[in-house]
Amino acid sequence: MGGFETVIYEKDGRGIAAVTLNRPKALNAFSVRMRDDLYEVLNAIKIDDEIRAVIFKGAGEKAFCAGADLKEFLTAPSAVKARRIRSVRDLWRLFMRIPQPLIAALHGYVLGSGMEIALYCDLRIASEDVVFGLPEVGLGILPAAGGTQTLPRLLGLAASLDMLLTGRRINGKEALDSGLVTRLVPKDRLLQSAEEVALKIASFDPVVVRNAKQAVKKGMDMTLEQGLELEQRLAHIPDKI
Ligand code: COA
Repeated sequence: MGGFETVIYEKDGRGIAAVTLNRPKALNAFSVRMRDDLYEVLNAIKIDDEIRAVIFKGAGEKAFCAGADLKEFLTAPSAVKARRIRSVRDLWRLFMRIPQPLIAALHGYVLGSGMEIALYCDLRIASEDVVFGLPEVGLGILPAAGGTQTLPRLLGLAASLDMLLTGRRINGKEALDSGLVTRLVPKDRLLQSAEEVALKIASFDPVVVRNAKQAVKKGMDMTLEQGLELEQRLAHIPDKI
């Protein structure tokens, strides 16, 4: 699988897939083409039982992703058309349905939809130069790739509203302190660190890993009682992939 215009998709023999956002000249800005490429890649990952962990990263020195492609945004289709396209190719819902752990390896600018992609990942590892931000409200729009929902679930209400309503940017240390990332590493160690984490996950029983992810993520949207039932159900699934 390959030949994408905006994304590099690689799969190795160790159960690790890597997805590289690949528009470095535009700081990997998220375009319609990138949405379509990612949609195809994620659908392939979802049904590929050989893949046990996925790393998302950005090409180039300066950014994981500097948000929606603002040049394209100015020529965006009508709201009705955009909604129709989205209902057919809902990339954000697809992100939530990927059973394998997703690891974001983040460097440089992680803005707007770049941050929202990172928020769909299960683990976020960043290098010391990372800068997070949600500039949408200041641009007269809402984050529409889930950010208003995914961010408060991770950061809590007050810190999320501070980022959303004021455009406040968060550096690596703040991101680590607030739990936005769980590991902060020197830039030259970022990919190696992400790979080590992916390999660790890939060394575990893949069914148990998927069930653990499902129990935690689905459980977050349930009452404690429902969550405990879900845990019980998943703990007793004996099937192998
Ligand atoms: N959409 C399209 N192109 C973008 C982009 C975006 N979101 N962000 C950066 N680029 C392009 C720039 O236009 C520039 O292209 P050019 O060389 O053809 O002029 C190139 O990427 C490099 O960006 P530049 O602004 O020169 O880098 P910088 O280091 O001076 O600044 C940022 C980096 C991230 C602070 C700045 O690019 C920026 O503010 N980008 C927009 C962020 C944003 O608001 N995103 C939208 C979220 S909804």
